Amino acid sequence: MAIPQHFIQELLARADVVEIVGRYVQLKKTGANLSGLCPFHSEKSPSFTVSPSKQFYHCFGCGKNGNAIGFLMDHTGAGFVEVVHDLAQQYGLQVPEDERSPAERERAAQESAQRATLSGVLERAADAYREHLRHSPKAIAYFKQRGLSGQIAKQFGLGYAPEGWRALASVFPDYADPLLDESGLVIAGEGDDGKRYDRFRDRVMFPIRSVKGEVIGFGGRVLGDEKPKYLNSPETPVFHKGRELYGLFEARSALREHGFALVTEGYMDVVALAQLGFANAVATLGTACTPEHVHKLFRFTDSVVFSFDGDAAGRRAARKALEAALPLATDTRSVKFLFLPAEHDPDSFIRAEGSEAFGDAVRQATPLSRFLLEAAAQDCDMGTAEGRSLFAANAQPLWQLMPKGALAQQLLGEIATQVQLGTHELEQLWGVRHAGASPLRTEYSQNRSWPRNADKGQRPKTREISGSRVLPRPVRAQPGSRASRALQILLTEPSAWDTLSQNEHLLLCELPAPHGPVFTWLAGQWLDHGPQPWSALREALREHPQEAFTVELVDRLPPDILSEPAELKDILRTERREGLQRRMARAATDHDVETYQRLMLELTEIDRESRQTVHGGP
Ligand code: UTP
Ligand code: MN
Repeated sequence: MAIPQHFIQELLARADVVEIVGRYVQLKKTGANLSGLCPFHSEKSPSFTVSPSKQFYHCFGCGKNGNAIGFLMDHTGAGFVEVVHDLAQQYGLQVPEDERSPAERERAAQESAQRATLSGVLERAADAYREHLRHSPKAIAYFKQRGLSGQIAKQFGLGYAPEGWRALASVFPDYADPLLDESGLVIAGEGDDGKRYDRFRDRVMFPIRSVKGEVIGFGGRVLGDEKPKYLNSPETPVFHKGRELYGLFEARSALREHGFALVTEGYMDVVALAQLGFANAVATLGTACTPEHVHKLFRFTDSVVFSFDGDAAGRRAARKALEAALPLATDTRSVKFLFLPAEHDPDSFIRAEGSEAFGDAVRQATPLSRFLLEAAAQDCDMGTAEGRSLFAANAQPLWQLMPKGALAQQLLGEIATQVQLGTHELEQLWGVRHAGASPLRTEYSQNRSWPRNADKGQRPKTREISGSRVLPRPVRAQPGSRASRALQILLTEPSAWDTLSQNEHLLLCELPAPHGPVFTWLAGQWLDHGPQPWSALREALREHPQEAFTVELVDRLPPDILSEPAELKDILRTERREGLQRRMARAATDHDVETYQRLMLELTEIDRESRQTVHGGP
């Protein structure tokens, strides 16, 4: 029995995590949060905090964290359904049984049945391909010639799709079954049935498995030099190239043993590396590495080494991977880039130079920080002021993708040194000068960005806890983009959305991805549910394309930063002011006095507004 998700959201919006945790843990107010002794591990000084604004708890000692429902499950050992029912009763709510319309339920049932049957069909095809391999001397010879053992072929379920247009008809007697084309195994021509044929013909086959081990697609390689060299399954309800990694299922235990994941570009690389001692290899599926790929990998390991072929395409791919990895490069994770000699990919390299040489290359891989600097310095003449400035301009958007922390801070220092500026000057520069160049995506200077902390307009420096020391002090608030900060506030301060005007909502929703789409989503949430705490929004975000980005953004908020609508207003005012200034500059160049004066008036209006708020206005 499924409890509708909107109900979980509603429940989380009602339940107060402070009150619920407070039933079991003695909490004491510390700044914006409350703290106490962690109920999940034994400790003498409190490292357990509860955030009323986010409606989340977090223990800095043992890492346990979650919302009110999670707390009750962990603390009482009750199951999800039980906790939801208990809480609903306490708040006088009725848990809706499955309240989808019969048609919706029917569709959901069909969808899950379809997923099951699609996997079923793909599984049967994989079995058949494997069986064909056993009877195909030329396919066996091909794998042998590429150095693969029978054992590794078995482990990866390698197979062979025989020649002929309808070889699969012997496995699926109903060759007209729509499941065959929905699964991507059969290509259906327009119109009549006569045009149906097998997608994979006379190719060696690599089944692609989900992390659960189900076959979700295939890659097939020609045995000779024909084109295209590889064919992949199309996108289907069970297969999304941008999310899946070849070999991840097979690599699971090796990821733990080796302590890192090795990301390659090819099927053959994964299989060859597994045979030669690197069973922790995975591959993207002929697509650039996406943030979802990286996020998925970090579920299994804290350390990722991307390996790239030593050609120009490899460099470009590395750039993409860098951008995908930067938002997730926290201080406890490691990301490295391995560039192989121009003529090699991992498969050819390890066969030519041996496992040991490959292992050395992996150990000497370029750390993310160095690669970022190199990528930014590309085509910059660092011997001239112009070249160094270009370098800074290249580095800024990359650096801003990083989560706050020691790594980002050090890198900022290094960038500053290379630009021959002080760190503080660079911060100032990025905060002020570039503001015109790229609206709302620019760094948000520290002086302006955290003006209204809990008390007396001080920036938060250290965490003051009455009496005992203990709680880790949050790192100094990091500059992020203004849009990110606006989003943080709107996500963690339920009342903030309401304080904005229609135009301001629009301004936010129209921002480029990833921010704009999240603001738009938030607008929809607000319309459907009204103000909700972060714990409820977090639930609603599941499966959203920007889920990882958004959660990361809230996770990186230092625990004692207050999110206040006034700060949000301030951000939007700055944004509007800069937009106006840009337009005024244009009007001035065009000698358009009328426009200039109109804009000037608007600007004065904004300034008046901001003076009012500072001097005691609402
Ligand atoms: P490569 O061209 O680098 O091939 O493609 P490879 O992995 O070294 O293959 P071998 O060693 O010649 O067998 C890398 C990856 O790009 C995708 C595949 O996922 C491949 O593994 N690709 C390549 C395609 O999808 N289609 C193609 O035609 C070629
Ligand atoms: Mn290769």
